[in-house]
Amino acid sequence: MDRLLDSLFPSAENIPETWRLEAPLEQRDYLVNGELRRWDGPLATVRSPVWLKHGDDEQQVVLGSAPLLDADTALTALDAAVHAYDKGRGAWPNMRVAERIQHVERFLARMREQRQAVVKLLMWEIGKNLKDSEKEFDRTCDYIVDTINALKDLDRRSSRFELEQGTLGQIRRAPLGVALCMGPYNYPLNETFTTLIPALIMGNTVVFKPAKFGVLLIRPLLEAFRDSFPPGVINVIYGRGRETVSALMASGKVDVFAFIGTHKAASDLKKLHPRPHRLRAALGLDAKNPGIVLPQVDLDNAVEEAVTGALSFNGQRCTALKILFVHEDVVDTFLDKFQRKLAALKPGMPWEPGVALTPLPEPGKVDYLDGLVADATGQGARVINQGGGQSRGSFFYPAVLYPVTAAMRVYHEEQFGPLVPVVPYRDLQTVIDYVLDSDYGQQLSLFGNDPATIGSLVDIFANQVGRININAQCQRGPDTYPFNGRKNSAEGTLSVHDALRVFSIRTLVATRFQEANKDLISEIIRNRQSSFLTTDYIF
Ligand code: G3H
Repeated sequence: MDRLLDSLFPSAENIPETWRLEAPLEQRDYLVNGELRRWDGPLATVRSPVWLKHGDDEQQVVLGSAPLLDADTALTALDAAVHAYDKGRGAWPNMRVAERIQHVERFLARMREQRQAVVKLLMWEIGKNLKDSEKEFDRTCDYIVDTINALKDLDRRSSRFELEQGTLGQIRRAPLGVALCMGPYNYPLNETFTTLIPALIMGNTVVFKPAKFGVLLIRPLLEAFRDSFPPGVINVIYGRGRETVSALMASGKVDVFAFIGTHKAASDLKKLHPRPHRLRAALGLDAKNPGIVLPQVDLDNAVEEAVTGALSFNGQRCTALKILFVHEDVVDTFLDKFQRKLAALKPGMPWEPGVALTPLPEPGKVDYLDGLVADATGQGARVINQGGGQSRGSFFYPAVLYPVTAAMRVYHEEQFGPLVPVVPYRDLQTVIDYVLDSDYGQQLSLFGNDPATIGSLVDIFANQVGRININAQCQRGPDTYPFNGRKNSAEGTLSVHDALRVFSIRTLVATRFQEANKDLISEIIRNRQSSFLTTDYIF
C-alpha cells in the first residue's frame, strides 16, 4: 500500500497532454441581466483534489479562483430575475412553449461545444474519473432532450379543450415565478441542470449558484446562457452561501427553491423566507441507504452491486449504499468476495484509464473519515481489507469496517465517502427497525431470491423509502423514473416528467358552454390573441 500511495500523485509532465492544466483560471465573470459582469472584489481560491509531485514534495494543485460576491451584488441578480419575470407579465413567462423550447435547444447546441472543457474541469475540480465525467456531461444533454420531449407531450395534451358539466375549459401549466437553483458538488453539472432546465423551460426566471466544488466548470457555459436566453431569464452568481443565498431568501422574492445538499442547510435557508407559504421547494437531501443481504441470495451479484453501490465515485453519491446489513450465514463469504472485488478497483488520477478510486475534493474529509474509523475500531470493529483507511493527502483508500454496531457513529452518520460499514444480523427485525427508525428515507437495496421474504419486505419498506431496489444497487436513473425520498431525504419528486410539474402550476381558463362564449374563444384562437388560449400543436 505504501508503494501505491507513493506513486499515486503524478508530476505535471506525467499527465496526458489533453488533460494538462494551462495557467490558473482567474474567473471574475458572473451573469446578470444578460451581461457578463466583472467582479473586482475578493476571490475564493479554487483547489483541486489532485496533488502533484515536485521533486520529493507533493502539493495540492491550485486551479484558479472564483468571485466571492457580496450580498448586494447577489441581490442585483435576483432583481434581474424578478424584473424579467415582471410579476408574470415578462416576455419569458408569456412566451409560447414552442419558442421557449427553441431557446433551450439553442443553449443545448452551444453547451455541447463545451464538452471537452467541462469534462476536463469535472476531473480536476471534483476528481471524478474520465468515464463518469463524460457520462455526467452526456447524461445532462440527454436530460435536456428528454425534458424538451416531455414538455412537447405535456403541451400537446393541454392544447385541447375539455367539457365537463357544461363548463368548457383549457388547462395548462403556468410558471411559478423566480427560481433559485443550487446543486451539489458530486454532480455539479447534472443535478443542478435537472432543476435549472425544467425551471427555465416552464417559464420561470432563474438565479443559479454553482455548487461549493465544481465552480469553474460552469464558466465555459456562461456565454451560452447569455446568448441563448433573454436578459434576466438566467443569472449566475458565485460566493459563499451564507452571504449570498441567505440574502436572496430573506428578500422574500424567491418563489421556488431548488436545492440539493444537507437537510440542515435546506431548513436554515427555508426559514429565512418571510412568506413560507409562497415558497415552493424541490429538495434532494441526505441519505443513508442500506443494502440488505438475505441468507438466500446470489452472493456474486450482491457483491458486484454492493461494491459499485458503495464505492462508485468514492461513495460520494447521495444514492450510495452507505451501510450493509449481511446475514450471519453468508457474511464470511460475502466479506471475502467483497474484499477481492475491492482490491481490483484501480486507484489513480481521474484521467487514467480504468481508474475507479480517486482523491476527494472536500477539505478535512480524510480527517473526518479517519475519525469514523477510529470511533468504530475503538468499539470493536476492524478494518478488514488490506490497506483500508490508509491515506495520502486528499486520497483515502476505502475501508471495510466489520462488525459494525449501533454504538458506532458510522452506523448513523452519512459518511459520503469510501467507508463501507458492514453489520452482521441474525434477526431480520433488527434491520427492519433500522429502516423504520432512520431519519432518512431515500432508497434501499434488497439482495435475495426467496419470493416470500422479498415480497413481505417490499410491503414493509414501501412506506419507508422512495425506491426499493431488488438485487441491484441504489441509483437515481433512469431519469424518467421518480427520484424522491421520505423524512429528511427529500421534498418533492423529480424525474424528467415530474420536474416539469414541480416548477409550474396547473391553471384553468373556464367558461360556460354557450354560443357567445364559444364564439369568443374561437375568435381568440383564430386571431392568435393569446399564448395561453391556443390549440397550437407542437410537432
Ligand atoms: O448524488 C445523488 C445522485 O442523484 C445520484 O445519482 O444514482 O445516478 O449516481 P446516481
